[in-house]
Amino acid sequence: MTPTAEPTLTQAVLDSFAGCPGDRLRTVMSSLVRHLHAFASEVKLSEEEWFAGIRFLTEVGQTCDDKRQEFILLSDTLGLSMLVTALNNERPPGCTEATVFGPFFVEKAPEVANGADIAQGAQGEPCYVSGHVRSLDGSPIANAQIDVWQSDEAGFYDVQYAELDQHQARARLHSRADGSFDFRSILAVPYQIPNDGPVGKMLANLARHAWRPAHLHFMIVAPGYERLITHVFRSDGPYLDSDAVFGVRPTLVADWLRHEAGVAPDGTRSDKPFYTLDYAFVLNPASPAA
Ligand code: BEZ
Ligand code: FE
Repeated sequence: MTPTAEPTLTQAVLDSFAGCPGDRLRTVMSSLVRHLHAFASEVKLSEEEWFAGIRFLTEVGQTCDDKRQEFILLSDTLGLSMLVTALNNERPPGCTEATVFGPFFVEKAPEVANGADIAQGAQGEPCYVSGHVRSLDGSPIANAQIDVWQSDEAGFYDVQYAELDQHQARARLHSRADGSFDFRSILAVPYQIPNDGPVGKMLANLARHAWRPAHLHFMIVAPGYERLITHVFRSDGPYLDSDAVFGVRPTLVADWLRHEAGVAPDGTRSDKPFYTLDYAFVLNPASPAA
């Protein structure tokens, strides 16, 4: 790390933590202070820049409420959320990788049976999703709890519409005895993360865009396995190499197939073209409790 311009000042702050009873808190705070001081020294932070930073963080905090978490958005757009996800979700090769949670999960999504239409009126091109939940050795995982959520074709999640009084394009279902599941929904499209606040201004100042590549969110929970929070991304869309929150992993990119109007996977006739996605999720066994 770049040495600080004021080593005795840095040391004095570190020494002030000596009485901290929590080892972990002392470790985390000491490292944070060392890196903060090294950062300010490396860029020779001006007083104006220091104050601009304070103003920016104040605005980030003031933009947060019970529906909007601008600090998480800041963490997402600086790659910190994905780094923390990666640090805490190392899995053996072959297991499905985790990615960022995002702010649009809902604790109690409508429970549906396999085959249900989870769009519930959300606008978009029809899409039929099927998949399996398996263990690393290929054995099926029955009765896994699968939460799925996505935006509509305008790029908004149901929770972003103040006037909506029911959930759309999200559901909770369970895998069958053979690990399979399926549902009907709408086609995932690229969308912009909320960018009308200070984080949006920061992105604009950095000449960065706010787009995420098209994806479906999944959270899969099964007894005896680690919880999996992930996305499946559309291979045919833009922004896979410039996701605003750095969440893309090549193993999570899948082909959504386009079909002309005709018989859909559920046996009904679709008078519009429709899409299908099939994806297998592989869960990591939970480590035995120590
Ligand atoms: C999302 O994919 O829902 C999301 C993730 C991070 C920031 C904003 C949205
Ligand atoms: Fe999303």
